[in-house]
Amino acid sequence: STLVVDVNGGRTIPETLFGIFFEEINHAGAGGLWAELVSNRGFESGGRTVPSGIFPWTVIGNESDISVETDATSCFENNKIALRMEVHSDNKEVGVSNPGYWGMNIEQGKKYKVVFYGRSETPIQLTVSFVGDYGQTKLASATVSTNGTSGWRKFETILEAQATDHHANLQITASKKGVIWLDQVSAMPVDTFKGHGFRNDLAQMLVDMKPRFLRFPGGCFVEGGWLRNAFRWKETVGPWEERPGHFGDVWMYWTDDGIGYFEFLQLAEDLGTPPIWVFNNGISHNDEVNTSVIWPFVQEALDGIEFARGDPKSKWGSLRADMGHPTPFNLTYVAVGNEDCGKYNYQGNYLVFYNAIKKAYPDIKIISNCDATAASLDHPADLYDFHIYTTASDMFSQRNKFDKVTRGGAKAFVSEYAVWHEDAGSGSLFAAVAEAGFLIGLELNSDAVSMASYAPLFVNTNDRSWMPDSIVFDSYQLYGTPSYWMQHFFKESSGALLLNSTLQSNSSSLAASAIAYQNAENKQNFVKIKVVNFGETPENLTITLNGLDYVQQALSTMTVLTSANKMDENSFADPMKIVPKQTPLKNASKDMTVQLASYSITSFDLCRT
Ligand code: AHR
Repeated sequence: STLVVDVNGGRTIPETLFGIFFEEINHAGAGGLWAELVSNRGFESGGRTVPSGIFPWTVIGNESDISVETDATSCFENNKIALRMEVHSDNKEVGVSNPGYWGMNIEQGKKYKVVFYGRSETPIQLTVSFVGDYGQTKLASATVSTNGTSGWRKFETILEAQATDHHANLQITASKKGVIWLDQVSAMPVDTFKGHGFRNDLAQMLVDMKPRFLRFPGGCFVEGGWLRNAFRWKETVGPWEERPGHFGDVWMYWTDDGIGYFEFLQLAEDLGTPPIWVFNNGISHNDEVNTSVIWPFVQEALDGIEFARGDPKSKWGSLRADMGHPTPFNLTYVAVGNEDCGKYNYQGNYLVFYNAIKKAYPDIKIISNCDATAASLDHPADLYDFHIYTTASDMFSQRNKFDKVTRGGAKAFVSEYAVWHEDAGSGSLFAAVAEAGFLIGLELNSDAVSMASYAPLFVNTNDRSWMPDSIVFDSYQLYGTPSYWMQHFFKESSGALLLNSTLQSNSSSLAASAIAYQNAENKQNFVKIKVVNFGETPENLTITLNGLDYVQQALSTMTVLTSANKMDENSFADPMKIVPKQTPLKNASKDMTVQLASYSITSFDLCRT
């Protein structure tokens, strides 16, 4: 097989080609990227009628010593449920305990900020503590005293852990008779990514991908099984204590909405990427708003745009400013719904959104849910969504999907792609290699495709409602699947020069592309050739780089992602089993013969300066 590359010709790849898609699925945000340790912090998840369930909170003490129920006496208007705790005895430590999301990661020497609201009829001392070892070991604790007036008071304390437990609980206890109300209990590590509440280790995995956009917050999460359970941005902004939270009825879990619309915009800014906001267009999985009465949803979207980028003196821009961000966020992309194209009201609703947004914000790029790969859209759009979940061999062959699509119209946004089911397991090399072939096809067609993102991004291993995923974690550990590492081969592509290249082969298992880019760290210029071997036998490839006058071999490298078995996976026990392995490319030259391992992704980075 031969690959001939012309290092001096080509065209620029869109700056936004490879990014990430964050969905609140698999506890990606609540119990994941959002570093809040308490689950159901406002006691709202049991519903608005009282008394209601307080899951996952549990009661410490038996019925003769303590009774606990909810009532609707909170000081917060949007979330009236509070916890009423009546202590019947003295000298017994009783109260409530929260396990967070399958246990809290409390680490020795680290500090945690605990905030809660409380009131009591008589002065009572409360003990706030992190407890590990199934309740046997106090990891950190502090006492606070309620003053015994009937008013609510905010309590705030910093706990420093004296020992480590990855599955700790937060307890609030008392040992004196009396009645205490609690509400909005939060515990956060003091140290979070950029101080903005994101779990450091998970956020770093995103930074390392160098994403060029952040699509959020879903997915089906945006639509809801029913509209009443959809993500509605206004319910997720403002002080965290006043957010009602909601039950995501597609992925079937409650979220306190600590990671809300503001936090997603903040995350995009912290990652240095443009945000892409997917909003509900009046359509869920089971109900729809008719186009004739869609305006309130359109106004909600317009308000959301004003919140993101309006003047700090505007109605919604001032709320953003109050939340600590007076300068506008760089919101220039919005998607009208998710996977709704075939729905009865989609086209009608879409046009009302499109016209209103373009009139108020002509620069905003609007993404339609309708696929334009077979025929051009019959409605205006800047981009169209394309989603693909398929087998490995189909994914590899879909690298040609965009070869013949019309240029000149709306650009494709491959906002969700992944190999799934048997070929993927919970994240196989086989899947990653096929996906790399597909992405090479997107690179080669990046005059028709402007953006692409893998889905889903995160999975908490305790809630694997969708497999496979890019990053697997629990309360304290994580690893990237081969599909995560596969995306690292494309980090330099966005904004790079796509070089003209021709692959000639009798094998139908090879895919290749070549780019010219400048290395961000050492500022040297490189030619990067990526070759995917989606076959079970190794392949020889002769590479010719026409026009390459000079190669600095000392800085040239070869990077390979492969493993002994195509179905191999990473795991907590062996998190780095399948990761890119880089070696010096000592024989780097304008003419090279290389061997490509079976089921592998290989990149050759030749330094030309
Ligand atoms: O990525 C998981 C789901 O797949 C998304 O929520 C949805 O858009 C698609 O069906």
